[in-house]
Amino acid sequence: MSRSGTVIIADFLEESAVESPVFGNGVKLVIAKAHEEKDLQPWLADADAILLFHDIASMTDATFERAPKLKTVVRAGVGFNNVDLVAAGRRGISVCNVPDYGTEEVADHAMGMLLSLVRHLPICDSSMRRGQWDYTLAHNTPRLRGKTLGLIGCGRIGSAMALRAKAFGLDVVFYDPYVAPGLEKALGIRRSLKLEPMMRESHFVSLHCYLGATSHAIIDEKSLSWMRPGGILVNTARGPCVDQKALVAALDSGQLYAAGIDVFEREPLDDEALRNHPRVLLSPHSAFYSLEGFVELRTKAAEEVARILDGEPPMNLVNREQLQNPRIKL
Ligand code: NAI
Repeated sequence: MSRSGTVIIADFLEESAVESPVFGNGVKLVIAKAHEEKDLQPWLADADAILLFHDIASMTDATFERAPKLKTVVRAGVGFNNVDLVAAGRRGISVCNVPDYGTEEVADHAMGMLLSLVRHLPICDSSMRRGQWDYTLAHNTPRLRGKTLGLIGCGRIGSAMALRAKAFGLDVVFYDPYVAPGLEKALGIRRSLKLEPMMRESHFVSLHCYLGATSHAIIDEKSLSWMRPGGILVNTARGPCVDQKALVAALDSGQLYAAGIDVFEREPLDDEALRNHPRVLLSPHSAFYSLEGFVELRTKAAEEVARILDGEPPMNLVNREQLQNPRIKL
């Protein structure tokens, strides 16, 4: 049976070179180039599926009520905070994501930030660009081997980070109350059942949890005070996991030596104290990206849509609990 239906590529993409071969000729593809939810309205009556990137900040019932045939919204990315799961589920519309396309990239990015900061590279680099030659900037650089790295969250990316850190001789310990017992054995690392003791023993802490009620501002004034003075914090998870004001205060007081930050409370970054801090290494929420990873993301998102158009169950449904009278096979 040949595949058919109408798929709206909602935002961000201006071409469908990756998606078209996945869908084949029977599927009508609309490249909507929308920036706001309302820009999609002309196509909703016919839509069987929506492929959503990140330019549309919020997709709500205003979309779903106009889309009587819509079976799924597939979010091309890990996070799905920009889709109203309850409103979609109430109308039988499935919401899916692509959870695994950037695992290596984010772990590489976090490890890269940690290595740069431990080796004092940002301050050496900016000093040399000012025409200086000052070896003393390297003073107090610690030896990496044997130091303790604490991970908050040890799912896909946390595990990938642990494997990288072990190769550098770091002693890795994680706090993650939700993963199965024995993960520490599989990875050959240690587990802490509580956050505080892990923070107290860690020279460096890297966040790899998702953003939720238990991880919102999990790094705040109190948890920063538990760290060894002069530690390093890396956040490639989500901005609101860290209280940004407390972070800047800890950098100012020296409680933290440095921080590597890819994600922010508000994006784009609007916090000048953080932007201008000399011991902060910043990147613009780019940890996920690699040429190969981006193609993988687009391919996997299109494959999820194709499965649903073919009447097969999705692989990465994220609103199972909210889904009533589903328009797809589960
Ligand atoms: P995952 O779902 O495999 O792992 C997340 C882990 O966090 C889970 O094991 C969960 O039990 C743990 N967790 C949740 N709440 C916690 C808490 N309060 N304390 C400790 N652990 C907690 O997700 P994955 O693929 O490892 O991704 C992790 C996060 O990385 C994503 O949720 C996303 O926020 C972020 N991310 C950032 C990207 C970037 O470009 N900077 C790209 C992709 C993901």
